[in-house]
Amino acid sequence: MDRKVLLKKDMKEKQELVNIILDRFLPRKDEYPKEIHKAIRYSVFAGGKRLRPYLTLLAYGMYQPAVEPITPVAAALEMIHTYSLIHDDLPDIDDDEYRRGKKSCHAVFGDGVALLAGDALLISAFELVTLAEIEPKLRVQFIRELANAAGLKGLIAGQMVDINSEGKKVDKSTLNFIHENKTGALINLALRFGALAGGAPEKELAMIEEYGRLIGLVFQIVDDLLDVEGTQQELGKSIGKDASVQKATFPSVYGIAESRAKAAELTEKARLVIAPLGEKAILLDTLAESLLSRKS
Ligand code: IPE
Ligand code: IPE
Ligand code: MG
Ligand code: MG
Ligand code: MG
Repeated sequence: MDRKVLLKKDMKEKQELVNIILDRFLPRKDEYPKEIHKAIRYSVFAGGKRLRPYLTLLAYGMYQPAVEPITPVAAALEMIHTYSLIHDDLPDIDDDEYRRGKKSCHAVFGDGVALLAGDALLISAFELVTLAEIEPKLRVQFIRELANAAGLKGLIAGQMVDINSEGKKVDKSTLNFIHENKTGALINLALRFGALAGGAPEKELAMIEEYGRLIGLVFQIVDDLLDVEGTQQELGKSIGKDASVQKATFPSVYGIAESRAKAAELTEKARLVIAPLGEKAILLDTLAESLLSRKS
């Protein structure tokens, strides 16, 4: 089978596994108090590529025959990601009305409910990690690492510098800090969790993490580029927002052409890093290419 077709098929299968866990774990939307469960389900099941959980399952699957044991961890990462999108869209952060092809959470349910829905997804994600059938020691380690990567050593730190940098001229190292933290940290962790729980040898784990660091950065560079060059219909979110509020983005610092070139160069690097893993990294390799040319 063509590797792109294989990747698409594998993504679809694994996304379904993640969706099943999310559906089982999250309270029904008619459960009391309804408003919060409705808002959570609205945002979680609005769509989304499920990239982070896919990365966990993909890395785990390189070392294990069946991915089910790690699926709760993968689904927990999607919950944290979805929380970050709900809060990112709030009027006091990016003030975005559209997300995943629909009205954003706060635009439908109000700011207060959206805040709580985000809080609940973030907190409950940790509960879901504890339900994974992995070594108890690893569970504790994952909770600690997740708290760091989603918190002050990752996503929140990146978001903080992102909003602080609006309207300012930022240097290249600040820009890298924003991207590696607000987006890269969770993407990298997703791969690390999969490889660690799967039992990857140390050297291979290091390669997968370096790959994760590189594609995490590429992912946000491409997100920035799509905000300039993409379409709302394909992306499912508003475009042109970054320039309108003078966000610190790759296109604003390097220009479009150089940002594209950088993304391509980092993708090549990522592919080279995992090349020694050979056949078992074929989907990782294909994924790196596809994230560079994505339109949504
Ligand atoms: C959007 O993430 C926010 C960023 C970190 C760039 P995704 O592009 O993965 O969003 P979904 O999950 O597919 O909606
Ligand atoms: C979002 O970056 C990163 C997180 C949500 C943590 P952006 O603000 O660029 O993401 P979009 O473009 O709104 O999806
Ligand atoms: Mg933002
Ligand atoms: Mg945003
Ligand atoms: Mg963006």
